[in-house]
Amino acid sequence: MPQKRRKILVTSALPYANGSIHMGHLVEYLQTDIWVRFQKLRGHDCTYVCASDVHGTPIMLKARELGVTPESLTEKLSAEFVKDFHDFGVDFDNYHTTHSAENEELVGSIYATLHDSGDIYTRTIEQAYDEQEGMFLPDRFVRGKCPRCNSEDQYGDACEVCGATYSPADLIDAVSVLSGTTPVKRESVHYFFKLSEYETRLRAWISDAKLNKNVLAKLEEWFEAGLRDWDISRDEPYFGFKIPGTDDKYFYVWLDAPIGYMASFKNLCDRDDRFDFDEYWNVDSDAEVYHFIGKDIMYFHTLFWPAVLQGAGYRQPTSVFTHGFLTVNGKKMSKSRGTFINARTYLDNLDPSYLRYYYAAKLGPTIDDIDLNLEDFMARVNSDLVGKLINIASRCAGFISKRFDGRLADSLPDTKLFSEFSNAGETIAAQYERREYSKAMRSIMALADKANRYIDDNKPWLMIKDADKAADVQFVCTQGLNMFRSLMIYLSPVVPRIAQDAREYLNEESWQWQDSAAPLLGVQLPEFKPLLTRVDADNVQRMVDQSRNSMPVQD
Ligand code: 2FM
Ligand code: ZN
Repeated sequence: MPQKRRKILVTSALPYANGSIHMGHLVEYLQTDIWVRFQKLRGHDCTYVCASDVHGTPIMLKARELGVTPESLTEKLSAEFVKDFHDFGVDFDNYHTTHSAENEELVGSIYATLHDSGDIYTRTIEQAYDEQEGMFLPDRFVRGKCPRCNSEDQYGDACEVCGATYSPADLIDAVSVLSGTTPVKRESVHYFFKLSEYETRLRAWISDAKLNKNVLAKLEEWFEAGLRDWDISRDEPYFGFKIPGTDDKYFYVWLDAPIGYMASFKNLCDRDDRFDFDEYWNVDSDAEVYHFIGKDIMYFHTLFWPAVLQGAGYRQPTSVFTHGFLTVNGKKMSKSRGTFINARTYLDNLDPSYLRYYYAAKLGPTIDDIDLNLEDFMARVNSDLVGKLINIASRCAGFISKRFDGRLADSLPDTKLFSEFSNAGETIAAQYERREYSKAMRSIMALADKANRYIDDNKPWLMIKDADKAADVQFVCTQGLNMFRSLMIYLSPVVPRIAQDAREYLNEESWQWQDSAAPLLGVQLPEFKPLLTRVDADNVQRMVDQSRNSMPVQD
């Protein structure tokens, strides 16, 4: 290396606490977790925070339907999220909630600054109102016929058939999803943030933020269409934070959700001296801040959020890393096909390392969608992880323990080959850094092929039978295990549990990226235990069957 120790704060989008974590969510949490583990392995101060996003109308209504408070609904779901993430090896440094004292305080102070500097104003707007329920209706809670193509039962904001976008008032024969009654129009005072005045400042941020080119293209479209001021208030009843100075107005969930990133970090700083909030969020901070998000929430993260931060006098994100959606077997996830798979259903049937590797093998730094093809998933994991990588160790470890008392040789027979493995470290690191995981996986697997070829060429299983060569088997297997070790270090951000077992087998306390550069020699190893078994097709099928059975079919 040697390189500067960077201070990096990383977030994944805060999961909305009205349903379970599923395979689609996991693309993002695994993508982020791999990046964070990589940075830590490189010796940087990397901190990964997240929280449940718990405010807003959908959660309020869901809690009402279940006859519980939104607090208790979201606490219960958050506890499930934490368990799901943990079991998938997603290792947050802090997991919090947006319904927290830290968030309320930050939202209040950010709002006060924006208000005092003239960035907030009020305007009366007209909205759909359900008289029976006594509440204003978000666009998604009004349905009716599309004004353009006449398709029945479309949402109040867009038609799923012809793609038209409109407002609920344009729908033909509109009804409230809540009561089935016809909504009326009603006026109410709303609070607006002057986003329209931020174009120049946002363009300056964008030119620094090294965004992906598809993201830049989308931003350009939005600038051309003109930035519109942002409605940051909602009327009661609403589950959220009340706007100071009002009796019946709440902050829109999308204002307090990203502030939840800061609040989760604040919560960590308050209970752990190693972290200093201002060091990361002051306008002149030299720390890096990255948000991993899906392409559906780009507007919030590349326009609203940097503008709010700027207006409130905080630093802005260093960059926003956007990924695409997940399809399963080439199609949108579907309950009837059994491809709407919850995290827990996966965990009940399959090893999380399989999915972590498979997603890594598919992921790049772009907003392209990725496909979880279940046949390909089995083939890829079995051939790469089990057949190529783990196999290197399985082919060498037995000889070392049975014939050489578990002892590695004191030198490598082919140092040139080993240097190919250590020299590849910087290329692979650069691929991880740029989030080119599929390239990194290909680089690692190409080296695994090389290691297997070395074993094939030397044939330790024949050497051991030849009295003249038997002693050299220790050298060949030491070479094999050292190539395996380097690859396991490189792959440890992706499959941390396998890497931990491998490291324990190699009797090492901890690994840093640089440890791959020097071979492990002359040490005593314990008995080798299989590190991973093949994906079993029956388990995959059972997971699909359970996903099909567990939920009512409605798509
Ligand atoms: O899209 C979502 O599911 C949101 N809950 C993400 C929020 S990200 C951040 F802004 F809080
Ligand atoms: Zn239509």
